[in-house]
Amino acid sequence: MQAFVTGFSASGAAGRGNDGVAAKSHIRGAPHVTHARRVARVATLSMGADRVFFVGGNWKCNGSKSEIKTLVESFNKDAPTTSDVEVVVGAPLPYLEYTRGLLRSDWGVSAQNCWIGKGGAYTGEVTADMLADVGTDWVILGHSERRNLPELKESDATIATKTVYAISKGVSVMYCIGELLEERESGQTIAVCERQLKALGDVIGSDWSKIVIAYEPVWAIGTGKVATPEQAEEVHEAIRKWLAANVSQQVADSTRILYGGSVSPANCDELAKKPNIDGFLVGGASLKPDFVKIVESYKQKV
Ligand code: PGA
Repeated sequence: MQAFVTGFSASGAAGRGNDGVAAKSHIRGAPHVTHARRVARVATLSMGADRVFFVGGNWKCNGSKSEIKTLVESFNKDAPTTSDVEVVVGAPLPYLEYTRGLLRSDWGVSAQNCWIGKGGAYTGEVTADMLADVGTDWVILGHSERRNLPELKESDATIATKTVYAISKGVSVMYCIGELLEERESGQTIAVCERQLKALGDVIGSDWSKIVIAYEPVWAIGTGKVATPEQAEEVHEAIRKWLAANVSQQVADSTRILYGGSVSPANCDELAKKPNIDGFLVGGASLKPDFVKIVESYKQKV
């Protein structure tokens, strides 16, 4: 809430509107991308894949209609229009359709949770069918604030079940994983991430095309304590290796792996230079107009 109030720019009224270029696929190959540029970029990637950079904003439980309007108008006006980056903002449930109506058409809208399956007598829940029905393209699942908050305590299996159902309804998933501080300190980081990946691997099958993985070390979320580019890259590389060994090389090459945890305009470029970091999931900094600067870190890859 604080960031909405202190962060927005007063000059956001003249939005560009819905005039953007919708990304057709997350595998790059748009005709405007020159051959030389593609060759140079592929050479910088670790495993030969050409993954479209992805930046998700997670507004969490913040905002009001007027704050969202001001923020979205600044995004519509100030962010670049390019197929080199896919951008999605995660709004609170009551504001999903409102946000969709205001936001430029080349950016997607995400929910932050949904029910595990189809609807019925589940008081207070919202299904992926409903999300799709109101034009929601994505849902964030497995966020550590849902895995670890004592009031919620979602299990690996619940999150995996939700993910499979959401995808079956055409809603893509930002699947969040990551270790607690004590797990990192006891050398469990990779094992924890692999356990969380396996829960999904056990039920999803071979098609991961509607998933991006967000690696979010819990100790870095909302703390201002960002993982170093080397720390993040080490885990991202391990995630990609896990995908190659347990799913397929094609899925390992094509799946975007985002870093999340205190990403800011000041640290995003250094992180984006790492070969296995394909974008970000941004919390606090997505509530401010200069989220656009994080979006622009895609330039590190092109
Ligand atoms: P943060 O949150 O950027 O505020 O650390 C990230 C997240 O929770 O996805």
